[in-house]
Amino acid sequence: MSLIQFKNVSHYYGGKAAVKDLSFEIEDKKITAIIGKSGSGKSTLLQIINGLIKPTGGSVYVFGNPLDYSNIYKTRLKIGYSVQGTGLFPHMSIYNNIAVLGKITNVPKHDIERRIDTLMSFVNLPPSFKTKYPYQLSGGEQQRVGICRAMLLDPPVFLLDEAFAALDPETKSEIHTELLDMQKAEPRTIVIVTHDLNEAVKLADNIMFMQDGEIKQYGSKKDVLNNPASVSVKDYMDNRAL
Ligand SMILES: Nc1ncnc2c1ncn2[C@@H]1O[C@H](COP(=O)(O)OP(=O)(O)OP(=O)(O)O)[C@@H](O)[C@H]1O
Ligand SMILES: [Mg+2]
Repeated sequence: MSLIQFKNVSHYYGGKAAVKDLSFEIEDKKITAIIGKSGSGKSTLLQIINGLIKPTGGSVYVFGNPLDYSNIYKTRLKIGYSVQGTGLFPHMSIYNNIAVLGKITNVPKHDIERRIDTLMSFVNLPPSFKTKYPYQLSGGEQQRVGICRAMLLDPPVFLLDEAFAALDPETKSEIHTELLDMQKAEPRTIVIVTHDLNEAVKLADNIMFMQDGEIKQYGSKKDVLNNPASVSVKDYMDNRAL
């Protein structure tokens, strides 16, 4: 069984389904990109994976078991989550921002220090930044700190929701490369929601296309790009031509 599996999962807001009867597995240790128009249910799906949203119906299996909503905090420690805008604590140094989950879970100090050095070098942040504060960093640097924070406990699953959307193309491209390098060194199951087809093509092994809360196509990147399953998938691709 893969780390993430949905069986007949639906979530309704009022009478309207944000996601409809979704059944799928995410391939372990690969990068899956979820694409689709605004409002198609991408963020809802991602938040169902980490238990931020308890779906109206169906079963969500993460790490081989149905999500236990009464003890979701424990599961969430094993799921990195990064969204647009980094959510860094402004009054805390970069080091302390990255260290947060390590301190909460009583990881020995020198293990935290070693892990932070490794992560900062992955994303090309100089060690001198540890004593700086978020306001002293550029948007791209802050986003990198956000990645380090999400990766501190080496979570087997990493979810990104439009995490790089606000970055300029050059910075975005650099972070993509860093993420791919990190994935090579520490393979994990990554699900990335993006509006940016270039980003999906650069990063993903698999692509899931959503429309109106349903999965219209899901397969290897090559398959989805070469054989769009419907006119709506093809139109989406064509309108965002590379
Ligand atoms: N808290 C909420 N209350 C009511 N409706 C919601 C809520 N959150 C999402 N929705 C609705 O559910 C649907 C799916 O939303 P979702 O945020 O998952 O879309 P999305 O694909 O991530 O869109 P975007 O690309 O704009 O981020 C939309 O119709 C949205 O209006
Ligand atoms: Mg969204």
